[in-house]
Amino acid sequence: MTVIDHQAIEDAAALLRAGQLCAFPTETVYGLGADATDPDAVLSIYETKGRPRFNPLIVHCADLAMAERLANFSPLARRLAEAFWPGPLSLVLPLRPGHGLADVATAGLDTVALRVPDHPVALALLRAADRPLAAPSANPSGKLSPTTAEQVRKGFGGAVPVLDGGPCKSGVESTILAIDGDRIVQLRAGALARSEIETRLGLPVEQAAEGAAISAPGMLLSHYAPNANMRLNTAPMPGEAYLAFGAPAPHNSLVRNLSETGDLHEAARNLFSMLHELDATGAPMIAVAPIPETGLGEAINDRLRRAAAPRN
Ligand code: TXA
Ligand code: MG
Repeated sequence: MTVIDHQAIEDAAALLRAGQLCAFPTETVYGLGADATDPDAVLSIYETKGRPRFNPLIVHCADLAMAERLANFSPLARRLAEAFWPGPLSLVLPLRPGHGLADVATAGLDTVALRVPDHPVALALLRAADRPLAAPSANPSGKLSPTTAEQVRKGFGGAVPVLDGGPCKSGVESTILAIDGDRIVQLRAGALARSEIETRLGLPVEQAAEGAAISAPGMLLSHYAPNANMRLNTAPMPGEAYLAFGAPAPHNSLVRNLSETGDLHEAARNLFSMLHELDATGAPMIAVAPIPETGLGEAINDRLRRAAAPRN
């Protein structure tokens, strides 16, 4: 039996609404939560975890109605949601126009992974916060996923507030499925067994191709790449779009500056939206200024290298 501390839930919701992080329990593992519509809050997740890459995060919703405001559900997606939500199933779905999610939460993709957790404290928190919450497991990058509030506190040296909901019943992260027409593809095995999904729906669930596994999520085929080609650590040539950083750059329609003051947090917040904007100019090439490899710069450079990598 989970004892619900309503005051603790209200306090945690207030923190999240104010753009702060708060760890919270789910039936799988504890999540390090942030307002998924607030880019600065989502960036704090990466900083706090020390995560070197912007992986797309799972966005948690209070119910199917909240999820349907964020993504388009095909009939098959809705069947899956109705069968297994709340529960340890994340669905990768196309974003809806006007979704309001921060680009950093989806790492610039045009899809989002959504789930409704099956935990009374998580659901009460999502209702109280009244907004979707991005949450990866609440552990420093490279460490084990926490299944108690105590493990979360220890992991972050007490620096992160934790909403205590007792030990997690599952201890394994959610199963992640992508829906491709009438195919269901498992991207990450998790707390909901593939066989159980197949039995309940009477449909096959394919295993994602070798290498598409979640151990290298940024490598998923769908990772964001602009239409334009990209050159990194360089200055623009005539006719090229330019993603600047720090130093003053010429002001014209082909230029965006990630941060005029050289602030990596600001740069990270602007990264995906500015790449989208420069791509929309139709320029064949986007030149990108050097970005320091410190702090969030590591994640920024990782995404830039992936976006610039040769395409098949
Ligand atoms: O059980 C769980 O799922 C836990 C609890 C806290 O809910 N959360 C969790 O979240 O494991 P996270 O953010 O660590 O999992 C994110 C993974 C990414 O590594 C990525 O592989 C996949 O979900 N993912 C997210 N968005 C995706 C997308 N648009 N396309 C493909 N994969 C995506
Ligand atoms: Mg994790």
